[in-house]
Amino acid sequence: MVHINTLLAHTAFVPDSDTAAVIPPVHFATTYERAQDNSYPSGYVYSREGNPTRRLLEKTLTGLENGFDCRTFSSGMAAGHAVLMALPAESHIIIPDDVYHGFRHLVMQEARVGRYTFSAVDMTDLTRISEAVTPNTRLIWVESPSNPQLKISDIAAISSIARQNEITLAVDGTWTSPILQRPFDLGADIVLHSVTKYIAGHSDVLGGALIFKDQSEYYERVCENQKLTGAVLDPFSSWLTLRGVRTLAVRLRTQCETASRVANFLNQHNRVSRVYFPGLESHPGFEVASRQMTSSGAMLSFETAGGEADSITVAASVKLFRRATSLGGTESLIEHRASMEGPGTTTPPGLLRLSIGLEYSDDLIADLEQALAEI
Ligand SMILES: Cc1ncc(COP(=O)(O)O)c(C=O)c1O
Repeated sequence: MVHINTLLAHTAFVPDSDTAAVIPPVHFATTYERAQDNSYPSGYVYSREGNPTRRLLEKTLTGLENGFDCRTFSSGMAAGHAVLMALPAESHIIIPDDVYHGFRHLVMQEARVGRYTFSAVDMTDLTRISEAVTPNTRLIWVESPSNPQLKISDIAAISSIARQNEITLAVDGTWTSPILQRPFDLGADIVLHSVTKYIAGHSDVLGGALIFKDQSEYYERVCENQKLTGAVLDPFSSWLTLRGVRTLAVRLRTQCETASRVANFLNQHNRVSRVYFPGLESHPGFEVASRQMTSSGAMLSFETAGGEADSITVAASVKLFRRATSLGGTESLIEHRASMEGPGTTTPPGLLRLSIGLEYSDDLIADLEQALAEI
């Protein structure tokens, strides 16, 4: 078995007997011709159901996560929605109290119209999870590190609770990608990725993926719903994502190293009151993160001592960081998260979230230093 970096470098290399091209083509066709005997010789019928470029990406992601199969979607949220849609009637689900705000809003909205009930719990506390389980609990949703407070949940311990109660465990692996965390090895049943972030990696693709560990009933329902509803990843986005995957390991290695340096710089700065980064020994999830992640990641958040107004001044004063939402691209981003999340946010008002890109680390630190000097 070759190293994952070797696998990534050769992503989607399918020798083409006609052209000898080393890079796969993009298949834009929406429909495929039947043979005279009424069969579909290639296995493809109509691109809502399947497309060769999308399928190549799905097989690639299945291999990276070491799962059974994958389906890719038009966004990470469409992938998350597909998991929720496949729940039986009257299900109860458990989500983290700190989770991507779009997902929380989706769950709250569907719960309001009676699709299911939910509990939002602090997943760093296993007792709270056990206490939240009801006879109708069908899904536990984990996001670790969480967005944007970087809480660390012990996935292996949560999977024991899920297994004891016959509950499906889904892990949103967007912030870690298949490189930094292996949810299936820790007991998850489904892994979600917003491929928009690290996997595609260049802030130019919107997409999502669900990888399934087994050919479960849940998997069958998700596939059938996707065929019928069509929230699929388009061929060009699939191809761009395959291109991004080839450099995933090298991008993340640099991004993680830089994030660690930035976190240590902020942690020692007298105008910074709190740094949220699981690579710091002072982080409450440091021990679990060291166990279940191969690196602490390239995302971090921090608060300034002066609160919200000072934090907004820092965001306004940076020159290299771009003031934008999202994450996982080559350019570093800074975001005042609470104002982006809007009313009902659970994010501390002074929190700034950083997505670390591929710039030289000293340049990013110098940029933050001059911005912090403005307060
Ligand atoms: C952890 C996490 N999951 C899911 C999503 C949603 O992905 P998308 O924007 O591709 O719909 C995001 C987006 O920021 C995210 O950060």
